[in-house]
Amino acid sequence: MATTLAPETPGTPRPPEGGEHAPVFSVRDLWKVFGPRADRVPGSPEAELPAAELRARTGCTAAVREVSFDVQPGEVFVVMGLSGSGKSTLVRCLTRLIEPTSGTLQIDGEDVLAMDKARLRDLRRHRAAMVFQHFGLLPHRSVLDNVAYGLEIQGVGKAERRAKAAEMVAKVGLTGLERRRPGQLSGGQQQRVGLARALAVDPEVLLFDEPFSALDPLIRRDMQEEVIRLHRDEGRTMVFITHDLSEALRLGDRIALMRDGGIVQLGTPEEIVGSPADDYVRDFVRDVPREQVLTVRRAMRPATSDEQDGGPALAPGTTVADAIEAVARTGGPARVVDGGRCLGVVDHACLLSVVAGLDGKEVAAA
Ligand SMILES: Nc1ncnc2c1ncn2[C@@H]1O[C@H](COP(=O)(O)OP(=O)(O)O)[C@@H](O)[C@H]1O
Ligand SMILES: [Mg+2]
Repeated sequence: MATTLAPETPGTPRPPEGGEHAPVFSVRDLWKVFGPRADRVPGSPEAELPAAELRARTGCTAAVREVSFDVQPGEVFVVMGLSGSGKSTLVRCLTRLIEPTSGTLQIDGEDVLAMDKARLRDLRRHRAAMVFQHFGLLPHRSVLDNVAYGLEIQGVGKAERRAKAAEMVAKVGLTGLERRRPGQLSGGQQQRVGLARALAVDPEVLLFDEPFSALDPLIRRDMQEEVIRLHRDEGRTMVFITHDLSEALRLGDRIALMRDGGIVQLGTPEEIVGSPADDYVRDFVRDVPREQVLTVRRAMRPATSDEQDGGPALAPGTTVADAIEAVARTGGPARVVDGGRCLGVVDHACLLSVVAGLDGKEVAAA
């Protein structure tokens, strides 16, 4: 697992147990335009203009352009894109920290744009907690009090909030540091405090805006593992912004790739890497080690009748890298088996051709 970039089971997120498959967030045709008379831009002919021209003609910036997506319960939904592509604006629109210009927006089927002040406060405090890049910790307060802060705002009693905060401090691996001030912690430790604070209010969904961008690579890796572990243990829904492709591939069940305010592709890491929607995406993922993201589901071919029950069995989510090893060990093809059923087989030739991109539209220089 440590050597693979993609999560073990990419693809469609788990549906909630026994319930309806209602999305947590449902976003349709969302626009956020900054500038004078911004509300005239969505749907107008100018809206189609490139960013610089739109700005020259109208003085407006379309930070989010006609964006639609659902965030499913229990998934890590990554919003990826270069700096300035609209990621922060989009995620701030979800709780109306930034007021969208047009479009519709629901959380658990409830219209966010129709919420009054009290309901919005409740949304931000209880339902969708934000973890920022700049930790936003209170410098004069201890770690424990920082973690308890969100509960204090909610009016939770002192004993209860301290107990809850201590539990969250332990959960993010900061036991023993409860009485320190943020200034006495490393960047990674401060980010853990930020994470513990968001978790303490037990939100339905965690929103992360590039929380690890300022951290050193190794610490950053630790924090990513922390997020993966939290997600695995609790199945909490997360919306995670990053400009870093490897972080997106490591964390995301699905990734929305943004460019100039719009989503250019929305898919699993395997879909984005294996079937880029256009040249922009293809260029973006060019250096990704494909064998670590693509799985045997994409590489397999139909089994012949005598291949149906011989050879090693691989789960459909097995990475091509692992499958190459399995095939090399035995020399023959390996079966792709799901719930006892043989879906197909992979051999050396078909594994290597997906790595080389031969399943796609172009032959990548291998
Ligand atoms: N308050 C604002 N007023 C005007 N333009 C803004 C404002 N906030 C963001 N923008 C512009 O919107 C675009 C998207 O910004 P942002 O959402 O911060 O991108 P990202 O988070 O992907 O770096 C950028 O062109 C940025 O300059
Ligand atoms: Mg940003």
